[in-house]
Amino acid sequence: MNRSAAASNAPRFDVATVRRDFPVLERRVRGLPLAYLDNGASAQRPLAVIEAVDDYERRHHANVHRGVHTLSQEATALYEGARDRVVEFLNARSRAEIVFVRGTTEAVNLVAQSWARPRLSAGDEVLITHLEHHANIVPWQMVCEQTGARLVVAPIDERGEVHAEAVEALMGPRVRLFACAHVSNALGTVLPVERLVASARARGITTLLDGAQAVPHLPVDVRALGCDFYAFSGHKLFAPTGIGVLYGREALLESMPPWQGGGDMILRVSFAGTTYNELPYKFEAGTPNISGAIGLGAAIDYLSGLDLGGAHAHEDALLAHASHALEGIPGLRIVGSASRKASLVSFVVQGVHPHDLGTVLDEVGVAIRTGHHCAMPVMEFFRLPATARASFAFYNTFEEIDRLAAGVQRARQLFG
Ligand code: ALA
Repeated sequence: MNRSAAASNAPRFDVATVRRDFPVLERRVRGLPLAYLDNGASAQRPLAVIEAVDDYERRHHANVHRGVHTLSQEATALYEGARDRVVEFLNARSRAEIVFVRGTTEAVNLVAQSWARPRLSAGDEVLITHLEHHANIVPWQMVCEQTGARLVVAPIDERGEVHAEAVEALMGPRVRLFACAHVSNALGTVLPVERLVASARARGITTLLDGAQAVPHLPVDVRALGCDFYAFSGHKLFAPTGIGVLYGREALLESMPPWQGGGDMILRVSFAGTTYNELPYKFEAGTPNISGAIGLGAAIDYLSGLDLGGAHAHEDALLAHASHALEGIPGLRIVGSASRKASLVSFVVQGVHPHDLGTVLDEVGVAIRTGHHCAMPVMEFFRLPATARASFAFYNTFEEIDRLAAGVQRARQLFG
């Protein structure tokens, strides 16, 4: 088959068709069609995910790894099948590198307590950036308090950019770990993670990337990135809440003690001592979120059936359209204008509190997030208590963005 014939057989991205896969998008809110622009907080689920979870709950539920009976074996096969999907999705080397957790927050805490806590001591440094989500700040503050290590914060500029040179200047001999967002949840900035990870590795610094906001928008290949740990949450990737992934290099995970003790993470328990299970089960104590993992596997399957290149191009077009539409509104300031951004716009409007803006928009069926976005240091940097944030997914439309802009105009008239 020649290239053009192959291209014509490839799935084409068509937003109207894709929208039909997401039942909630048919909803009306306050009498108007829902315009869901809060995907950065949590994305919606396609029918394929809802049905996969429903089928599991109706027909296959039992505990995993524990039973010889049919349902337990089916549940185990579905749960472990989901892990296989994640291996492929991230281009990990093996299933041993994929630990199911509750979400990004739990993944970072696991690394902080299991990798960092036994290794850090007074004088060591953990390096992060100024635009991190609280989930990639507080676990490091806690482990610094526990060990006497110091948290070092790399700066951002007025555009919300992280400059690789500024971070590299802080990668001194005491830095043991560098942790940063792949994409900022508050500003949309895509960080230069390829270079940052390479620089850290060249200095023997272990690396963790918070991919919560990246996985829905960018292809992620952990081997190409070269990071030691990568964390993401299922619910931002069109899967259920309460399930997420910690990718870790096998040798590192192998060298770490378990974080939580309990069932499933052991091979043998006696009062004389306990032998831990092999990877990744060593880090999955207790009955896991089986249906959540199955939903995550279904979400990855769903995404693999889409023209993802087309979806990402559509998101870029949505971002450009939103930036243009909002910039034209008097008194509105976009916060965060990095040269590379994911499809998300944070903004403030003179004279209108972001919460009032959110309420007025809800009255016209437009859902956005308002607040500090769990990134208070970013708000402090820009000397703002809060912003309004519209965050897009590939199922959003230009018309929804026009409704956002009209709603902002209405709020200005009411409050401004
Ligand atoms: N971290 C999520 C957000 O940015 C909740 O909205």
